[in-house]
Amino acid sequence: MITTTGLTKVYRDRSRGRDVVALDGVDLHVREGEVYGVIGQSGAGKSSLIRCVNLLERPTSGTVTVDGLDLTALGGGRGPRAGQRLRAARSRIGMVFQHFNLLSSRTVRDNVELPLEILGVQGRERTRKALELLDLVGLADKAGSYPSQLSGGQKQRVGIARALAGDPKVLLSDEATSALDPETTRSILQLLRDLNRELGLTVLLITHEMDVVKQICDSAALMERGRIVESGTLDDLLATPGSELATALFPVSGEASGDDRTVVDITFHGDTAAQPVISQLSRTYNIDISILGAAMDTVGGKQVGRMRIELPGRFEDNVVPIGFLREQGLQVDVAGRPAAGSAAAESQLVKEGAK
Ligand SMILES: Nc1ncnc2c1ncn2[C@@H]1O[C@H](COP(=O)(O)OP(=O)(O)OP(=O)(O)O)[C@@H](O)[C@H]1O
Ligand SMILES: [Mg+2]
Repeated sequence: MITTTGLTKVYRDRSRGRDVVALDGVDLHVREGEVYGVIGQSGAGKSSLIRCVNLLERPTSGTVTVDGLDLTALGGGRGPRAGQRLRAARSRIGMVFQHFNLLSSRTVRDNVELPLEILGVQGRERTRKALELLDLVGLADKAGSYPSQLSGGQKQRVGIARALAGDPKVLLSDEATSALDPETTRSILQLLRDLNRELGLTVLLITHEMDVVKQICDSAALMERGRIVESGTLDDLLATPGSELATALFPVSGEASGDDRTVVDITFHGDTAAQPVISQLSRTYNIDISILGAAMDTVGGKQVGRMRIELPGRFEDNVVPIGFLREQGLQVDVAGRPAAGSAAAESQLVKEGAK
């Protein structure tokens, strides 16, 4: 539904007289009907990415395709028609902002009517549509209020209603819940999830909070210095050895392996989450297992999580129990050992240990 290829954005920083590379070849692929989260530290390029997706910001190079339409090609020509085509395409992309961006002199209803006015929707039909949208976001009774009379959560609901005015297929959200308290955040995320399901809306959201990703995202990408360094469905990420996103989603504490102990991170997802593997492991190999930390949660209705356990003895003494865990379909990472590269050596050791 949203695809970017080789998306690059370079800003000219006039004060320092040098260029800032905000996006450095971003290939993003958001499937129709999913909620996709982009997470990253301040300055990673998240806002630049979302602003390039709806061409609020013109990319320096690369392409942006939304619902089969190449937006970068649309606005490329000169003259009023090129601009018109881009505006028409953009009206099918809703945008929600961190600070709501409501007009304080207009009532709630008039704020939602504004984009309809721009789209040329007239009179009664415009009012009917605005009230319908306010009903959809649970604010039917606030139509005559002014933004200053609303709570933060209610303001964001107006922002969402306004974003839906053009019957968009795609909703972009830049930190929509960052200015809200945790409970209001949950209710706004739930609203986005409901809209995603009921209207088949594809949602691309930017956040710096892992909890947001955990609560509503089907897929996620991690941005660092203008690049996407990891991406995939949450399930795939959890199943990827050494995934930074998976580790951040389910952080577990406890020290890494030492000379006389092996510390192992186990990722549970899907069917494996329900199995009593730890007690099986302990019984089968007659070893004492300490649980150092655990983080379990429900993601997309499925139980997933991570557990950090300690086995007595060095890694080499534990290849068989570790092999046992992997045979149960679990993702197992040995803490303190590099994830990639060592995998082959590890599996060799496991094979030898099994002899
Ligand atoms: N209009 C601009 N002119 C010059 N530099 C800019 C401009 N907008 C953004 N930048 C720079 O581009 C980089 C990426 O900024 P961006 O706003 O995309 O980051 P972000 O990930 O959204 O950060 P945050 O989490 O703080 O919102 C930063 O180094 C920023 O200073
Ligand atoms: Mg930003």
